[in-house]
Amino acid sequence: MTNASSRQELVEGLCAAQAEVAPKYLYDDLGCCLFELITRLPEYYPTCTELTLMTNNADDIMATVGTGATLIDLGAGNCRKARLLFPKLLPRQYVAIDISTDFVRQALCAMQAEFPDIDMFAVGADLSQRIDLPAAVNGARRTFFYPGSSIGNFDPDAALALLARIREHCRQRGGLLVGIDLVKDAQTLHAAYNDALGLTAAFNRNVLNHVNALIGSDFRLCEWRHRAFYDPRRGRVEMHLEAAADITVSWPGGRRRFAAGDSIHTENSYKYRLDDFKALLAQAGFGDVRAWTDERQWFAVCYAGV
Ligand code: AVJ
Repeated sequence: MTNASSRQELVEGLCAAQAEVAPKYLYDDLGCCLFELITRLPEYYPTCTELTLMTNNADDIMATVGTGATLIDLGAGNCRKARLLFPKLLPRQYVAIDISTDFVRQALCAMQAEFPDIDMFAVGADLSQRIDLPAAVNGARRTFFYPGSSIGNFDPDAALALLARIREHCRQRGGLLVGIDLVKDAQTLHAAYNDALGLTAAFNRNVLNHVNALIGSDFRLCEWRHRAFYDPRRGRVEMHLEAAADITVSWPGGRRRFAAGDSIHTENSYKYRLDDFKALLAQAGFGDVRAWTDERQWFAVCYAGV
């Protein structure tokens, strides 16, 4: 995305009746680091649950996915999860896609030295737009990898559109290995997005630093409170920043008044029922679906072939 189009998107969002900033803006340099720290919190179960469940079912998952494909990591971040797959999946090429180009480039540099036989590519991309693969990607079979329940950031319609685009990229062969967070009790969900240490609050409020840098606005972080709650009707955790007082925020060319208690919506994180997600995969044009879950049924990893 160009600077001008993110600027326009941000200003439109800030001026909307329910103000919003898209979740991709959470990931500036500091935001990427904060998210990494969140994944180590005791309350934030998704990362460790997914890792354990993939480790426990590694042989079965690898046998289902197959070796020697081009591995395309959507939302790669630090590439830690894909790297665990390398010894068994033996990909010929690895394409790491992330919203933060710098972050993923750094991670790849370190890994390329360790796995010299795998061709590696770092791509900065916004998955809500389109997925452009480097021209050098030539593997006959493509395995897409979308871990961490990042697909939960998309509304079901947008998630379906993204899945359909991935399905098209798979062509005649290939598939998608995707992690999804499952519906569970509200208390566990609430704790995961309201950790005692306050890292999620810092991650959320830091989006205002990023917005200030991008559009020259004058948000003061101390005036905004973190708020996250589970909405069982919509099956999603919503994250907001709530104005602690009456505030006017200005930027070159515009401004917005917020009354105390008004909020800026910064993220949705959808939680799925496994059957609903399987149906979504089928609707997107995938064929066979296999799923693995942990004992508590908190998280699922699905493989959908073409
Ligand atoms: C990276 C989108 C999967 O939705 O749980 C963590 C981001 N937000 N804590 C999620 C996040 C608040 C995370 N995803």
